[in-house]
This record gives sequence, C-alpha cells and structure tokens, in this order.
Amino acid sequence: MDRIVEIEKFNQEEESNEVTLRPDAWSEYIGQEQIKKNLGVFIEASKKRQEALDHVLFYGPPGLGKTTLALIIANEMRANIKVTAAPMIEKSGDLAAILTNLEEGDILFIDEIHRLSPAVEEILYSSMEDFRIDIIIGSGPAAQTVKIDLPRFTLIGATTRAGMLSNPLRDRFGMSFRMQFYTSDELSKIIRQASLKLEKEIVHEAALEIAKRSRGTPRIALRLLRRVRDFADVAEEFHINHQRAQYALNELGINSHGFDEMDLRLLNLLVDAKGRAMGLSTIAASLSEDEGTVEDVLEPYLIANGYLERTAKGRRATRTTYDVLNISLPNDSETLF
Ligand code: ADE
Repeated sequence: MDRIVEIEKFNQEEESNEVTLRPDAWSEYIGQEQIKKNLGVFIEASKKRQEALDHVLFYGPPGLGKTTLALIIANEMRANIKVTAAPMIEKSGDLAAILTNLEEGDILFIDEIHRLSPAVEEILYSSMEDFRIDIIIGSGPAAQTVKIDLPRFTLIGATTRAGMLSNPLRDRFGMSFRMQFYTSDELSKIIRQASLKLEKEIVHEAALEIAKRSRGTPRIALRLLRRVRDFADVAEEFHINHQRAQYALNELGINSHGFDEMDLRLLNLLVDAKGRAMGLSTIAASLSEDEGTVEDVLEPYLIANGYLERTAKGRRATRTTYDVLNISLPNDSETLF
C-alpha cells in the first residue's frame, strides 16, 4: 500500500532538482536542542584543537533528521562528507576503497549502519580505532597482510536500530545521540521555514495543522506540506490557509492525530484483542508488513505518545487508544489497565 506518511530514504522529490528543503546551517536546524548543544561543544573543541571530530552515532526512528545533522556537522567543520549506506558496501574491498580515498578531516556518513556484514564491520574496527586497515592479499600459504594507514577521519553512523549494533562497533563511537520526536511547535517552525524556500506563504494555523498530523517527524511534515501546496496551487490560492490545509489533509486520509491507515489498522487490531497482548509476529502477519517495519517505523511514535504499550507478553492497547479511536472500553477495563 502506498502510505503518504511512509518513510523511505532519499525519496525522489528530495533528490530531484526541486529546491531542497534541508537546512544547511545550525541556525536553520530546528529541534533536537540537547543534541545540538552537546554537539556544538564537541565541534568547537575539535576545531580549536584542529583535530577531526570523534566518531558520532545517531539512532532513532527514520525521518528525524540524522542525515541532515551529519551534513550540518560537515558544514560546521568545513569538512568534505561522503554519504553512503551499509547495503551499498557489500564486500570488505568496497569499504577499503572508500576509506583509502578519504583525506585528513573528511567525514564518512554510513546510513543503516546496523546492516553491515560482519566481514565489513571487522575492517571498520581498526579504521575507527587506529586509522589503519589490514588487507589480506591472496590466499593459502602465499597470503600476505598489507597494512594501510588512513587519514584521521570522522565516521558518522546512523541507525534506526541501535539494539542491532554489535558491542564492539557501538563502543568505538566517541558519542552517540538518540533522536527525539519533534513537538508540533517545532514542526510548525520547520514547515514555515520550508514554505519560504518553496516561495509559498502559509498561515500559522495551517502550518500547525500540518505539524499536528505529521507523527512528530519532519520528513512527513515536509512531504505533507508539498501535497497541501499542490491543493492550494490547483485552487489558485496564493497563501496556504487553514481551511485548505484541513481539506487537503482530510483528502489525503491523515486524521487529526496524524494517524494514517496503517496506524489505524494496527491500533484497531489491538483494540479488537480486547486488552490482551499481541505478539509482534502476529501483528506483522495481520498487517502484511515485516516485523522490522512494525518495530522501527510504526511503533515508536505510537509508544512515545501512549497509544500503544509494549509488555513482556506483547503489544497492548492503552486507555488512550480507546479514547482516540472513540471506542468504549471493554467491560473488564478496571482490571485490564
Ligand atoms: N528539515 C528537516 N529537518 C529539519 C530540522 N530539524 N530543522 C529544520 N529543517 C528541517
């Protein structure tokens, strides 16, 4: 099913020649205040010492700005950045080629870093720690190990699943940051900033309306903004007003809590279980989704807002779930919740 709130990496719109909505300076980056504060200190310190920044790990649900932060760090450090993703690094030779092409102070960004194969990960250990790689050439008795020194670089890793990183890899990052969902106020600011770049004015109430329905996620907010702008353009409206935003979002099937059809299917499934917990595999099978998508994409927002509870026995609806779906609580709710 095509989800407008589906989070996919580097969607074509963002990559096309349409104006990019990514901020490229700290001053434009809204939200994640604690992360910005800490990173600001570490960046300044390493600039003062004229050293490469220590390796950084960002983790958390997709669409919250991990790649954007990496690009901004590069900008602040005035460093070159090479952006790649773990599935593109199939063999250890692929990683060796990337690493040996880096220059002093460069930044290497690896997205979905939990998906590196063990052989590739092994090479990363010595490069991160000692800035050196050992490459084995040939096989059998004639095999030789060649040591190659690397320039001091910064690895920025991003993952939606910190739990899937091996301990040795996790330990080699000098700092790791958990990305938070954005508040509606923050998202509304991001939307207004982006609409300036799109040269389409938006009234405050309309920006807030889109923000509230964006699951705390800038990538979704910006996608919804583009779609709402389409509705306004077709209606030949110069500004995006509140009514047009509400109309467009309703037409797109995004309800006032930001839930889309997938969220609603998941919440209804739990409510139908009448307070009993459901296992992840049962949920995934019922939704025809894989377990990883349910865990990394669907659940985090619902859990963070109390719409879903994870227990030892599985996932459960909460009182809030019944409230937001406007469904009366089961008869035994007093003992259930
Ligand atoms: N675009 C995407 N994420 C953003 C953020 N955190 N601040 C400003 N613009 C953004």
